[in-house]
Amino acid sequence: MSAVEIQEKIAQLTQELNHYNYQYYVLAQSLISDYDFDQKLKELEALELQYPQFADPNSPTQRVGGDITSKFNTVKHRWPMLSLGNTYSQDELRDFDQRVRKIIGDDFQYVCELKFDGLSISLTYQNGRLVQGVTRGDGTQGDDVTTNIKTIRSIPLTLKTTDFPEEFEIRGEIFMHKSAFLRLNKEREENGDQTYANPRNFAAGTIKLQDSAEVARRPLDCFLYFLYTENRRKQFTTHWESLEAVRNWGFHVCDHTKLCNDISEVFSFIDYWDTERHNLSYEIDGIVIKVNDYAQQEELSFTAKNPRWATSYKFKAERVETILKSISYQVGRTGAVTPVANLQPVLLAGTTVKRASLHNANEIARLDLHTQDTVYVEKGGEIIPKVISVNLEKRLPDASPFHYPTLCPECQSKLIREEGEAVHYCPNEDGCPPQIVGKMQHFIGRKMMDIEGLGNETIETFFKKGLLSNVVDIYALKEHEEDLQQMERFGQKSIDNMIKGIEKSKQKPFEKVLFALGIRHVGETIAKKLASYFKNIDALTTATIEEIASVPDIGGRIAESVHHYLNAPAHRSQIEKLKEYGLQFAIEEKEVVLESNSLEGKTFLISGVFADFSREELTAIIENHGGKMVGSISAKLNYLVAGDKMGPAKLIKAEKLQVPIINERDLLALINM
Ligand code: IVH
Repeated sequence: MSAVEIQEKIAQLTQELNHYNYQYYVLAQSLISDYDFDQKLKELEALELQYPQFADPNSPTQRVGGDITSKFNTVKHRWPMLSLGNTYSQDELRDFDQRVRKIIGDDFQYVCELKFDGLSISLTYQNGRLVQGVTRGDGTQGDDVTTNIKTIRSIPLTLKTTDFPEEFEIRGEIFMHKSAFLRLNKEREENGDQTYANPRNFAAGTIKLQDSAEVARRPLDCFLYFLYTENRRKQFTTHWESLEAVRNWGFHVCDHTKLCNDISEVFSFIDYWDTERHNLSYEIDGIVIKVNDYAQQEELSFTAKNPRWATSYKFKAERVETILKSISYQVGRTGAVTPVANLQPVLLAGTTVKRASLHNANEIARLDLHTQDTVYVEKGGEIIPKVISVNLEKRLPDASPFHYPTLCPECQSKLIREEGEAVHYCPNEDGCPPQIVGKMQHFIGRKMMDIEGLGNETIETFFKKGLLSNVVDIYALKEHEEDLQQMERFGQKSIDNMIKGIEKSKQKPFEKVLFALGIRHVGETIAKKLASYFKNIDALTTATIEEIASVPDIGGRIAESVHHYLNAPAHRSQIEKLKEYGLQFAIEEKEVVLESNSLEGKTFLISGVFADFSREELTAIIENHGGKMVGSISAKLNYLVAGDKMGPAKLIKAEKLQVPIINERDLLALINM
């Protein structure tokens, strides 16, 4: 391909991928399979790597992040990011309406929007391209988080049309959908990482991460709701028009926006969303009311803090009083202790609430909870009810404060709290019952060893009966068939089924085994990275903390946890026993039976599809004749075995580095086949 052709190819792929992104993340329409999308993305990535001179900083490949920011730069906002006044009642909102009328008369309209519960962001575009994303900060200046912003798929990196001002700023709200929040928080809990109290905190914590690749893994979304540009009134006369326009440029603008002719229409909008908000996939905490006409907005102007042409109406979170009966402390699989408030059952927003999470010791201290306190419990847009505060007037004279336990409620070990962490841990990993049971339940999970015929309840029963006390015992179950037959509700068929499932799990690859061990902070992706980097458990066990931390995306805290776990004598002996049972503790390298030495010292890379052989068969042929497979093209590569449908990037690179390109016939000729 010539330089012009390459540039064209890059432009075409970029445009295609931007289009699919927009369709999927803004319009929620899927036009292409994930696989095909990834293939195109990889093709573009390869071309950009090969021809960095043509790579666009706003390419869709930047969505996966990768840049590490050591410190965010502070940027002054060109237009300050003001907050809105709050109203909580119809009366307060009527007062707002009166004030507006006094200044601009009766001839105007309001735009009603949802008040998204996230964090506000200001995006700058020049010539239709995103150049900067800045957090609100103190309203005057905020943090430049552009690299993180680029990972948010619904934010366009380049605009779809051409009718936009040369330079403008657009403001909006970054948030996390409830479903993603629940899923990721659960994953964090399972991996022993700190959980977030609500989607807003999760989104705020994410946007401030310095590792943009991690940001990319946490799905964020963004609604845009306000446009700033010089001479805005030349192009639009109303806020409503501007919203329509920016939607056309490719921005994600919420559809639940309404033009209202008077305050009574505003009230209907509020009433509707006060109940309907529970059916949204994201959290809102109120409604924003804006005077529509730009000229009227200017006439109304600002107070010191807020615009006079807009305000917000905050939904009342439903709140009830009830009695705090006790606090229980639940110990999870990784030993993390979660305090839970046990409440006198009370009806709240349509459901009976008996319990509320208290998160951690800081929260209990903040609330200053005492025995038998009367507490306020709230459920707003939030998913989980929470204890807001104590009604001090009702505190009993003999009430005593709750103190966070110093000992594990399950095994009486002394709890520890690592520096900088809010969570307490029970360190008795191998002797604390909920940790033992939790670890075994994690081990058999679907994404781990996926043992058919063995479920969480059975694990608990077997643990109580003394049949299981750690994951090694699972593989010894078949030696206890007689004991199993004595168990109630456990027929021969279930036993056979379970033993078959257990045997089958021995084939699970190393990365799954590593994940299944349940090492704190080692989730699915981390386990994959460690497995592919170290190849086997011995290399990982003997690695120093620094060596582990040198693997891309593995931080010091994870490295320490892995090192500590694998070097504990109890775990070493467990792993040895699991090895003896035949579990996979190394990446499987196929056994090679040498047929000849004719390819000795030569390196090969296979790419594309072949008429007569599968890629695995070709690999076997090469290795059986002493050749070595490599993963990437370099000047040292001896042969590129090229089939059909091979990506152009590899061909281009091989040609440039003058690597001989051969087909399957040529390969067979090399070994006289
Ligand atoms: S307009 C000058 N519209 O609420 C007008 N804000 O206290 C600026 N918010 O900081 C804001 N949804 O983070 C506007 N539809 C919406 C909004 C919204 C949420 C947030 C925003 C702002 C805060 C106002």
